[in-house]
Amino acid sequence: MAGDDSWDDDIPYDEVEVDDDESVNFAVRLVDVSRNYTIGNREISALRNVNLEIRPGEFVAVSGPSGSGKTTLLNVIGAIDYVTSGTVFVMDVTIGDYDESFRATFRLANTGFIFQNYNLVSTLTALENVMFPMQLTDRPIKELEEDALALLKLVKLDERADHLPWQLSAGEQQRVAIARALANDPPIILADEPTANLDAVSAEMVRDILRKAHRDGKAVITMTHDEKIVNTKGAKQFRMENGVLTQDV
Ligand SMILES: Nc1ncnc2c1ncn2[C@@H]1O[C@H](COP(=O)(O)OP(=O)(O)OP(=O)(O)O)[C@@H](O)[C@H]1O
Ligand SMILES: [Mg+2]
Repeated sequence: MAGDDSWDDDIPYDEVEVDDDESVNFAVRLVDVSRNYTIGNREISALRNVNLEIRPGEFVAVSGPSGSGKTTLLNVIGAIDYVTSGTVFVMDVTIGDYDESFRATFRLANTGFIFQNYNLVSTLTALENVMFPMQLTDRPIKELEEDALALLKLVKLDERADHLPWQLSAGEQQRVAIARALANDPPIILADEPTANLDAVSAEMVRDILRKAHRDGKAVITMTHDEKIVNTKGAKQFRMENGVLTQDV
């Protein structure tokens, strides 16, 4: 699909999906990526010439102070935000070349996003939130419900399937958000401070799920200060400072 600029909004979901097979060189590749925001007459450089190469199945942990650009980096990789300059490849596709319709579909098929603030849809139940990314498939609703329930079971919340977000604790909401991120079995998981604000038990559960996603062959990219995540076996560690990304050696 890369390089094809005659993108048709009606192309079905299956044709958008990019599998994490051997034909994919990089799950994520950033080349000289900068992201500036202008507020009034003030320019903020949230990302400064970031270069990053992540292979399928790699575990990457980025830490750095508040305001250093970590969420911006994830948003750019997740095609939630645009870059000011440079190129972002996700599963070898230059997502910046495409319109929002493609980006939305591509995002749902390839990236599971765990947000810093959970971002559950407040009017949907836990089960419906998990089913949300499955909206582009034409599989029967019953099957989707079964899949979503299995994911809730994985995060030990199947008994809370019909609860709304406000009826769940912070840790439970984060686990629903993780189940949602796994919904389309995407090759890439993006997790923004996934254990911040969680109690010890919920945090360990979240770490376990991320490790399992890694074992299952997914690329896991997480912004975190959690030493137990940073020190995950085989993890590549990076530091973000004032928009500049460097790899720890
Ligand atoms: N939409 C936006 N508009 C303007 N400025 C923004 C926007 N998003 C982020 N910024 C700015 O970009 C910089 C990086 O923000 P970002 O949220 O990426 O930092 P962070 O490392 O995730 O911080 P934290 O650890 O507090 O979550 C900050 O100075 C922030 O104010
Ligand atoms: Mg952040």
